Amino acid sequence: MSRLTRVKALIPPGLRTRISARRTSRTRFMETPLTHAIDRWAFRRSLEAVIVRTGHLSGVEWLGRSIWQFPMDAWLIQEVITSLKPRLIVETGTHRGGSAFFFATLFDLLDIPGEVISIDVAAEQTVPHPRITYLAGSSVDPDIVGQVSQRAEAVGGQVLVILDSDHNAAHVAREMASYAPLVPVGGLIHVQDGWVDQLRPGRGFGDGPTIAVKAFLAANPAFVLDEEIEHRYLLSIHPYGWLRRVSQD
Ligand SMILES: C[S@@+](CC[C@H](N)C(=O)[O-])C[C@H]1O[C@@H](n2cnc3c(N)ncnc32)[C@H](O)[C@@H]1O
Repeated sequence: MSRLTRVKALIPPGLRTRISARRTSRTRFMETPLTHAIDRWAFRRSLEAVIVRTGHLSGVEWLGRSIWQFPMDAWLIQEVITSLKPRLIVETGTHRGGSAFFFATLFDLLDIPGEVISIDVAAEQTVPHPRITYLAGSSVDPDIVGQVSQRAEAVGGQVLVILDSDHNAAHVAREMASYAPLVPVGGLIHVQDGWVDQLRPGRGFGDGPTIAVKAFLAANPAFVLDEEIEHRYLLSIHPYGWLRRVSQD
């Protein structure tokens, strides 16, 4: 018995039929329960490899500035900013300012009004840009939340909240409670780094963002997961990462 015949014998008969039925077109992407399982394994493995090889993404750059983002997810943010056209982006977690700079330069390229508030308790550096305001302090400090709320009210329009500071579930929960009221219907909260709850290098971290997101969604029916955004490019480190407000309360 050849090796291929031995492997085929291991595949249940029903699955064998489905695989051969989908092989009728060479251009068609083969999808079976088996390929789904292989895909999930391959996605996790490639994400883990990229995360480990890039020093947890610390070497990624935008226009020469350090931006601590997975490139495929950054592309997705670019698409979201282009379609949502937020008047204000609130980012928690400045780090070296590269992501705030990324958002600000996208506003420049789109040639639309838009500003960025980036908050960090201990930013390593900032990248100056006329559209960016940096706030020093904890993202859940009532004084900081008050300043951001005042600005959101003053500028009006759509708001995109991007949570990329402390990824501990309790902190993310407090951030969502603080900034969700600023998001109008149609706007989005982007909760980053849910990968820590799912992939091997993140294990040992404790409860992370996905735990906070699930609890938030259960308590706040005005928000739903936007799975179309989340799964658009398959490779993402932000599972449960996009929440859209669909009603006022
Ligand atoms: C993952 S980095 C942010 C990366 C940045 N958004 C980027 O894409 O380049 C996380 C940052 O969150 C900051 N941070 C941690 N706890 C915080 C808190 N309670 N409030 C605000 N920032 C916090 C850290 O100082 C760190 O600079």
